[in-house]
Order: sequence, then C-alpha cells, then structure tokens
Amino acid sequence: MSNVYPPPEEFAKKAHVPSMDAYRELYRRAEQNPEAFWAEVAEREIHWFEKWSKVLEWDAPFAKWFVGAKTNISYNCLDRHITTHRKNKVAILWEGEPGEQRALTYLELHRLVCRFANVLQSRGYKAGDRAIIYMPMIPELPIAMLACTRLGIIHSVVFGGFSAEALKARIQDLGATVVITADGSYRRGKEVKLKAAVDEAVPECPTIQDVIVYQRTGSDTPMQIGRDHWWHELDANATEDCPALPLDSEHPMFVLYTSGTTGKPKGILHTTGGYITQVTAGMKWIFDLRDEDTYWCSADIGWITGHSYIVYGPLSAGTTSVMYEGSLDFPQFDRWWRIVEKYRVNVMYTSPTAIRALIRQGEHWPNAHDLSSLRLLGSVGEPINPAAWEWYHTVIGKSRCPIVDTWWQTENGSILITPLPGATPLKPGSATFPIPGIIPDIVDFNGNPVGPDREGYLIMRRPWPSMARTIWGDPERFKEQYWNKFPGSYFTGDAARRDADGYFWVLGRVDDVMNVSGHRLSTMEVESALVRHPAVAEAAVVGKPHEITGQAVCCFVTLKRGEWNHDELGKELRQWVAKEIGGFARPEEIRFSDALPKTRSGKIMRRLLREIVTTNTVAGDVTTLEDMSVVTRLAAQQDED
Ligand code: WT7
Repeated sequence: MSNVYPPPEEFAKKAHVPSMDAYRELYRRAEQNPEAFWAEVAEREIHWFEKWSKVLEWDAPFAKWFVGAKTNISYNCLDRHITTHRKNKVAILWEGEPGEQRALTYLELHRLVCRFANVLQSRGYKAGDRAIIYMPMIPELPIAMLACTRLGIIHSVVFGGFSAEALKARIQDLGATVVITADGSYRRGKEVKLKAAVDEAVPECPTIQDVIVYQRTGSDTPMQIGRDHWWHELDANATEDCPALPLDSEHPMFVLYTSGTTGKPKGILHTTGGYITQVTAGMKWIFDLRDEDTYWCSADIGWITGHSYIVYGPLSAGTTSVMYEGSLDFPQFDRWWRIVEKYRVNVMYTSPTAIRALIRQGEHWPNAHDLSSLRLLGSVGEPINPAAWEWYHTVIGKSRCPIVDTWWQTENGSILITPLPGATPLKPGSATFPIPGIIPDIVDFNGNPVGPDREGYLIMRRPWPSMARTIWGDPERFKEQYWNKFPGSYFTGDAARRDADGYFWVLGRVDDVMNVSGHRLSTMEVESALVRHPAVAEAAVVGKPHEITGQAVCCFVTLKRGEWNHDELGKELRQWVAKEIGGFARPEEIRFSDALPKTRSGKIMRRLLREIVTTNTVAGDVTTLEDMSVVTRLAAQQDED
C-alpha cells in the first residue's frame, strides 16, 4: 500500500480550502444545487457587463452556461486589474532560451493587447472570424490570443511543433482568414523556423488574407508582398484605445485541435463565460494562489494546459507568471532550477514526462539551487508513477510542498479531478477527488457503476461550465465520441478505478489514442501518415511503454513489392511521420512485417500488437485472429532484434 501524505499544517492554515471538511461542504453544496453554486462562483470571480437570465440550459449534450450574460475574457484578464493595486504588478515574467528577460506589467500587457487588437481591427477582422496563431513561447503569443478574445475573434493556437501539413489541415478545417506567426524561435540553442512552415501551408489555404509575422530571431525571412506583414510595422501605427467588446457568454472563444480515434483531428470548441468562470475558480482552489505568489506552468501554450493555466487562468486571477521559451536541458539540465531560484517561484506546474527526464540526469542538478521558495507543485498530462511522484516530492519539494496531480482533458477546459492542496491527504499516483460541481463515476460496458477497486470507464454525470460545446463543424461526431456510449453522461475515453477510500486512480486511455510526453496522439493519425508514403502498404501503430515519455510510438509496417533497405527505410519513415504531423510524433520504432494481425472482418488487432510491444508475448484471447502465425512471427521478431 502506498504512503498517504496529509497536507502540511502550515500550508493548510493559510489555504483557500483549508480542510477536508471544508472541501466536503463545498462539494455537497455544489452537488445539491449546481446552478446556484456556479452562479455564486461566476458572480464572485468574473466581471459581467450584463448578468444571465438562466444559469444553465442543458439540451444534452449541448450546454449553454450563463444564458444571455455578457462578458469579455480579455477584459477579465487585463482591464479589471489595471484599476487596482495590480496595475503595475508583473503579469508575465518572460525568459527567452538565450537568456533575455522581459517583465510585462498588467498595464503594459493591456497596452500591447489593445494595440494588437487595433491592428486586427484595422485589417477588417471582427467577432466570429477565425485566426490561426502559430507562434513560439514569447509574450506576443498571449498578446495575440488576448487581442482576439478582446474582439471576439475565434483563435486556434497551433503548437509550434506541428508541421506545415498539420497547420494546413487546421487552417482549412477552420476556414481561418489570418495567420499570426513569428520568423522563428530558439530550441536547444538552434533557431526553429516557423514562417517557413506557414509559407508551405498557406498557398493551399484560399481563405487566408493576411499573415502577420512577429520578428523574434531576426533571421532572413522572405515576405510575400500583399499577404505578409511585419507585426512591428503594423503595430507602429496602432492606437492604444481599444475597448473590450461585451460578448455573449456562449460566444465561441477558441478551437483547439486534439487527436481522436480517427486520422482527422477534432476541433474542440470552447466558449466564453463558463470557460473563464471555471478556469479562474480553479486558480484558488487547486493552485491556492494568492496575490504575492509567483507561479510557473512549464507547458507550451499550444496545448490546452497552456491556454488555461499559462494564459487565461493566471491572468484572470491577477497572478504573476513565469513564461519560458526553451527547452529544459539548455544549456544544461539545471535550467529550470535556475529559473525557480532566480524568480523565487512559489507554485510550479509540470508533467510526469519532464520529471522523469530530470530524474534520469541526477539530483545534483536541482540540489545545486535554492528551491526554498516553492510551496506547491503540480503535475498534469498522464498518470504520474509513484517513483516519479516521490522524487518530485522529496528532491524538488523537500517534502514540504503538496503535489496536485491534476486530471483533465482538452475537452474539459479546466481541471476536474485533483487534490486541493490544503485539504486532501495525498496518495502518490492518484488524482484523488473531483472538484466541487463535478460528478464522476466509473462504470462497466453497460453503464453500471462498478464497485470499489474495480476497473471501469471514467464518465462525468453532469455538465460543467468549462466543458467543450461541440466539435467545430461536426456536432454529430461530438455526440458520437463523447455522449452516445453512456447516454446522458460524458465519456472520457479513460479507464479508472476508485479505491475503498474513494480515491480516483486514472489508468490511461481505453481507445486508440496514445499519450506521448503528455501529448495526445491517435494511432490512426500516424497510420494514415505512414500509408501516404509510397513504399508502405499497410501500417498499424501502438503505444509502447517508455521510461521517460510514458508511451512511445511503435509502428508495424508492411511494404509494397520491391527491394527495400530496412535500415534506411526505417529512418526515412520516422522522418516522414515527423514531417506529416510534427517532430513530437516521430516514431521510436518501425518494425517491418510480412502481414499484420487482423480479425476475420479485417480489423487490425492493435490489442495484440500492444501486447507484443509490452510483453513480447501474446497471452490474450486470439480466437478471432485470422492468421495466428503472423502474431507469433511478430513476437518472435522482437527476440531476434
Ligand atoms: C488525457 C487528456 C489537459 C491536460 C493535458 C493533456 C491523460 C491527463 C492526467 C492525470 C492521469 C492524465 C488522460 C486524459 N491525463 N492528466 N493527472 N492522470 N492521466 O490533455 O491531450 O487532452 O489528454 O491525458 O488520459 O484523457 P489531453
């Protein structure tokens, strides 16, 4: 049985939610009357230009929260702070990978956002238009996002690690009219070009009118006259007065693409009032933030974690956040601890993958720095294995800092299952309990709740304010993916169990989705990329357990007729996938095979392949298997390697 860590007394005394009794009381109130509960939170945390007529309209699975209300997210993140003691408080403490620093106060950030919003407005963009943001981790990325939300322009941030192909697919699906990008960025001391990918993608995107380019690296960047514009040139003529537009609470705010079980990514749509209400509330409940704290989330803004917990949550809560451009090992493996020491970071939020990568490099890196400012640690993206948890707790937190292991998804908008640091006794590896207002359950295939310690499917029984509203352009897929399996409930795609004390243990995905370094990647997406290569006949992809990244991409490939050099082709295919999707999707392993195991109906049996890469044997049920010898050969091949 694992250890249990009660909240340190000192921590609990000052915490926003100071005890399990306080948590239970909040939870009970939310459960009894969720609408009154969320209305109270929304009143307290958010500025509304106009109040709602109804808290929730639930036409399952389509929700409307704070019906008829008017608010603006950029206003909540900026304007409401600049009339308070926070006006000259630092909002973003930015550090570039080469070492530059910028400290943007709330007033300064407000000025820059207003200027850029005026740039967008002067080029004719307005509420409801779609903007693609393809930028590195520099302050202009949140500035562009906040300028969009100020005007009601729907943004879609595409992670800078995605390829031109992936960028193109997103622009096209969204019918975006403007791309906001940068010349490049720094990663491990090298320049990563971004504008070059835009140049490759945009010619096949007829909806695009403008490409706005921020100059980050100053390297040679060809500009297409009429289409491409330098940010600094447009900004030079912009005025600083740009009132935030009062938007309907259900106004579409952003679309973020995430992998599903097919080859086509899903554009998850989030809206305005419910999203900002729940994200803001969590900053206090979960990160226990107070005005004097310095907070750092190490994610990339291109993923949902960065949207909610680098940009919108922290700014709405009036926090000082650290933002870092580069990689954790540059110039060496203590970069993060230098940052913690330098800015006296109090609350740090990162991923199990990063923690495991750091463990491998040894304790001497963190031990060389003063980490005594830290008071709370967070983890997100995948289950954290107890060994990594213990290391994070003792080596980084010096056994003094609670760890919030936060479970949530792109579709959820904000954290749903997590400890509250001043209240919850922690069990390493468990995300513990739902936040108030969230009613999870674990059920069997027929939707019946399973008992304690039984594995089942993780579902949510009630709607919540920051939930996704639909899949962009495909409401049927939204229903089908999340709501049809267990009617009336949201299906997460995860397996979980609850122990006898009621703690939730999330076990991982039950669908054909991999989790690589905390990033979601669909097996089908990689398979479709592979079969686009002229040498490939068929491909089957599975996640293989990996010591650092949690899972790694493992591909089984059959080839078309011909003479192939497997070593070279293997390298080429790995590169090919990186080009088709992005570097983070690059397969760890390509295995060539004469055939793939299939059911009689022709479906690839990924379960067997998963078993092969995990255990190198096949023990499960194979009665539906068409050609058993294929499986045996695949398993045997591993022994030969
Ligand atoms: C999937 C969501 C929103 C966070 C970033 C990833 C897994 C996430 C945990 C956790 C166990 C976790 C789940 C989930 N996951 N956090 N604390 N413990 N599993 O967002 O790309 O939408 O992926 O990540 O499997 O379904 P995402």
